[in-house]
This record gives sequence, structure tokens and C-alpha cells, in this order.
Amino acid sequence: RGEPQGDVREVVLAQPRGFCAGVDRAIEIVERALQKFGAPIHVRHEIVHNTYVVNDLKAKGAIFIEDLAEVPPGATLVFSAHGVSQAVRAEARARGFEIFDATCPLVTKVHVEVAKLRREGYEFIMIGHKGHPEVEGTMGQLDGGIHLVEDIDDVARVSIADESRIAVVTQTTLSVDDAAGILTAVKARFPLVREPKQQDICYATQNRQDAVKVLSGEVDILIVVGSPTSSNSNRLREVAERRGTPSYMVDSAAELQPAWFEGRPRVGLTAGASAPELLVQQVIERLRSLGALAVRKMPGVEETVHFPLPRGLGDKSMAEA
Ligand code: F3S
Repeated sequence: RGEPQGDVREVVLAQPRGFCAGVDRAIEIVERALQKFGAPIHVRHEIVHNTYVVNDLKAKGAIFIEDLAEVPPGATLVFSAHGVSQAVRAEARARGFEIFDATCPLVTKVHVEVAKLRREGYEFIMIGHKGHPEVEGTMGQLDGGIHLVEDIDDVARVSIADESRIAVVTQTTLSVDDAAGILTAVKARFPLVREPKQQDICYATQNRQDAVKVLSGEVDILIVVGSPTSSNSNRLREVAERRGTPSYMVDSAAELQPAWFEGRPRVGLTAGASAPELLVQQVIERLRSLGALAVRKMPGVEETVHFPLPRGLGDKSMAEA
């Protein structure tokens, strides 16, 4: 073992970081379905947006598909944490699959709210990213009457039948600051808009962004462990960049480039809500080989949120023998 080489001196870990309760539950659902029913288990879309997690479950017998026509009759099917439209749900039922729903309960909460207000005659503005599966799932709770806005400019283009019956919903993993800016524009244009009682951006997204805001002031560079498709991981990188702290997102330790750390001895490290702690530990090891002598955890929120598993797969507290 040679002497460490590189400019890194200190690593500061964000608190909280990594897995949220919805991701934890979604992965557990696939693992338990594999144990209970045996391979293969079909999963619609990546269960969570993380390359390592998906490859690990593939190795254990999960098959990831986008189109339900690819799933054989009688198969067991899991919906990903991002949720699905009513059309997908109906098609899965019609095809007779055994279904387990790994939609994050905080996404389901948004679905339920949208359906309820629609029955009361509301139209919706959804703040979110076009093409993201969560946005497709939430918009697909209704046959229409839900308008996607991605930025402030989009708000001016929305056309609503009755401006006294309009409500706003958001994707759960947005930038808290961007969403607030867009919401201000929505309220300026539609003063009677109804907002969610509790904002739709989830606790995990909020806490991870808050932690990066504090951390980015203490370090020279921020590394985010996350996959390119992960919305909340991309937002973490942006939060640091906007505060003037250079930031890179990596899917694994192998992607770290020593040149990033030249003249940047203090390295902040966080992970998106879908990125396993194992990958964080591998990044720490790599940073040690680049010179890191000290690793410390910044003080921050300790999360205790836990979501129960669906009926038929048991709960963690009642581990099967
Ligand atoms: Fe759910 Fe938020 Fe995680 S919506 S899946 S708790 S990032």
C-alpha cells in the first residue's frame, strides 16, 4: 500500500444523506417479493433511479420493463417508487398480474389529493419536470385538467376554465427554491389558487437540500453520489453550484477524478435519496487514497420516518423465519 497521493485533506459528510423511507420501502418490496414468490419478479420502470440498486436486484432475479406487454400472464409485478397513472394501473389489472405497489406513500398522498379535488371541480397546475415518471403518474391520475409548468415562463401560458377552482401540486423531488419561485408566479397570475396543506416536496428532498446549503459553505467542493436519472440527486448538485461550490455527481467511486480536487482540500459528500450508503463508503475509501486524513459528519436532522410494507409482504418488524 503506497502513501496517499492527492490534495484531499478532509471529508465532511452531509446529514442527512442517502436513502429515504420511500426508497427503503420500495427496494424491500422487490426483495421480499423475490423471497416469497421466487424469480423472476417484474418491475415497471427502475424501482428507484439508481444504477447499483437496479443491477443488484437484476442479479437477484428482478426484470425491469417499461411496457406491460413485455410481462408474461400470471407474473408478479411491482410498480416503482415514482408511481403510475390510472391507465397503467388499469392495464396491469386487466392483464391479471399479481401487483405490489411500491409507489412512495408521499407520492400516493399527492395522487389522492388530485383525485379528491378533481371531484370538486378543480383544475391543476403541476410544477415538475416533463417526462419524469412521477410527473407522468401524477398527471395520469386524471383524464385532463392538469397543466404541467416547468418554469416561470410556462405559468403565463396556462389556460384555465374557471380561475376560482384551481389548485397547485408539485413533484416531490424538486428544488425547494425553484418551486417557491414558480409558486410565487402562479399565485401572482391566479390569486385564488389553492395550495396543498402541506407542501408536496417531501421531507427527504427538503432535508437533503437544507444539509447541502449548510455544508457547501464549509467545503471547497461537493460530491453527490447519485445516478444521472435521479431528480433529487441532480438538485443537490445544483444547490451547491448555486452557492458557488463546485459540485460533481458520481454513480460510483470509480468516476471520481483526482483533478477535481486540485487546490480543494475540503470535500463535502452527500448522496441522493436513491443512493445506497455502500457507495458513499466506497467514495470515502477513494478519497482516503487521494489524501483524506479526516472524515467527519456534519450535525443535522436525524430522520425517523418509516413506511409500512404493503399487505401480503409483511412488515420489517415481523421478519419471517
Ligand atoms: Fe418518497 Fe421523497 Fe423518497 S417522495 S421516495 S420520501 S425522495
